[in-house]
Amino acid sequence: MCGIFAYTGKKNAAEVLLDGLTSLEYRGYDSAGIFIPEAGTVKAVGAVGNLKAKVPQNFKGQSGIAHLRWATHGEPTEINAHPHSDCAGEIWVAHNGIIENYKEIKDKLIKKKHTFVSDTDTEVLAHLIEENLKKENDFEKAVIASLREVRGTYGLAIAYSKEPEKIITGRMGAPVVLGLGENENFIASDPSPILRHTKNVIYLRDGEIAVITPSSHNIYTLDHNRVIGTPETIEWDISQAQKGGYEHFMLKEIMEAPEVLKNTIRGRLIVKDGLAKLGGLESVADKLRDVKRIIIVACGTAYYAGLVGEYMLEEYAGIPVEVEVGSEFRYRKPVIDGDTILLAISQSGETLDTLEAIREGKRKGALALGVVNAIGSTIARETDAGIYNHAGPEIGVASTKAFISQLTALSLITLFLGRQRQMSATMGKRIAEELLLLPEKIEAILGQKEYLQSLAEKYADSRDFLYIGRKYNYPIALEGALKLKEISYIHAEGCGAGEMKHGPLAMIDENFPTMAIALRDSVYEKMLSNMQEIKARKGKIIALATEGSEEVRGVADDVIYVPKTLEMLSPILSAIPLQLFAYYFARQKGLNVDRPRNLAKSVTVE
Ligand code: AGP
Repeated sequence: MCGIFAYTGKKNAAEVLLDGLTSLEYRGYDSAGIFIPEAGTVKAVGAVGNLKAKVPQNFKGQSGIAHLRWATHGEPTEINAHPHSDCAGEIWVAHNGIIENYKEIKDKLIKKKHTFVSDTDTEVLAHLIEENLKKENDFEKAVIASLREVRGTYGLAIAYSKEPEKIITGRMGAPVVLGLGENENFIASDPSPILRHTKNVIYLRDGEIAVITPSSHNIYTLDHNRVIGTPETIEWDISQAQKGGYEHFMLKEIMEAPEVLKNTIRGRLIVKDGLAKLGGLESVADKLRDVKRIIIVACGTAYYAGLVGEYMLEEYAGIPVEVEVGSEFRYRKPVIDGDTILLAISQSGETLDTLEAIREGKRKGALALGVVNAIGSTIARETDAGIYNHAGPEIGVASTKAFISQLTALSLITLFLGRQRQMSATMGKRIAEELLLLPEKIEAILGQKEYLQSLAEKYADSRDFLYIGRKYNYPIALEGALKLKEISYIHAEGCGAGEMKHGPLAMIDENFPTMAIALRDSVYEKMLSNMQEIKARKGKIIALATEGSEEVRGVADDVIYVPKTLEMLSPILSAIPLQLFAYYFARQKGLNVDRPRNLAKSVTVE
């Protein structure tokens, strides 16, 4: 996601800010920019080095704001790079987050003759502050008045050339931390750019703004009430700060799942009508109404998300679906016609096998849609329409939070297509309401991470693992096995529980444990029988069960309980413990969890 960094003090602000952006690079970005009130603004696409090369030698000033952009609204271009300004070029804003109601605000401001130069939601805020400054005649009050009109998420750094020493920030749903130095103060998205200057910080809370000068910091609520922040001393080094204090990016990203799910559904549910509002599909909505067949193409973890999507779409939208790995699809002679949708799922948006599959499908006349995390990526650009995950950059090679977002996005697409067809408003409402409850249910599972760590230690000597599931959780068995094998390098395989008797059961003995996903759903009894088959052959079992399913204890050696949810949404919950189990299993082996051997985060080759 984007990164903000601001400074006010006695040092050369450009040097402090550019240096700080380097330590924010890990967050993933596509462009960068800086504003110094006495010197002006410079922006560049690509690496921070490109920005540094463009900043003139005499770019002097002792305060300023800087930004790394992870595009959400508007392509990754120099024009869309932050900071963004008002008409007069006096108010400059760097923003992390999404302003949901930016279109309605922008329309109002255009009627008041404001002129916009970018496609971003952020620029709207600069003009809104300009408009409120005319009324309030006070920078701080103008910012507060503006933030009270905004809906969405923000972590901000705002500068005003007429008050160069003062920088204002605000926090709603996107982290902001103040750095408190000696005659200098800082604002950043996380402590990493601050730590080389000071370890004294204050974390802002949602709904708070802060005003910093070289000698002061004041925190207020949006009701103008003064808040006394709680200073903390950060003991992390920069690397730890980039991981949010977690040992690995993978664990940090697993723990981000509740926030990621909220960001994936944000602004996309009309609960009272049981509808999904997917702006990225609006342009093809009529075509989607007539679609007769969906082919999902993806690779790896994204492919397993597609397999879950198949169950969702067939059960709730009544559309025939087939799911293909990109590397196979592109070499087959697929039968495709104009009534077929090709739905590509890709976190990076650059996986060549998936990309070539899309190209093959489009050559044969299919409408190509995308579920992609990386804004402006090749797959995002080459599909005809689609939806972005808004999961933020995923640094760990093993895909975790992106997978949760992919499953969530597929449930939104199912809702969208289902309600175009026979799905009732009542059913749509049930799905929408349950999606809103999932972040809290995921938190409950994440609260068991120590237990998952103990299970990983208990089974640490295993050289093999079988993962079994049925129906919606058959793909989760496959994904759980992939997570374990790709970061711990042991043999792990997933299979449909019903398929065990056709071969895999032969492997089972006391040294070959099984992870069995046995939630209280339409195939629960079948799963219990399958677990009995394993127990009869002395196989050890870790069962994933729904809270309250006490009978599982009589069959499994260990049980991980997850909250109850709709069967179609249960993979979103069942994936989490398997991600944690794989993480702790690999971590205790001392392996490079974030960058496992032989693998790359984005496979842009055949
Ligand atoms: C999953 O943990 C792996 N990193 C890998 O299977 C990955 O899901 C696959 O390469 C697809 O990547 P994409 O989603 O970026 O297309």
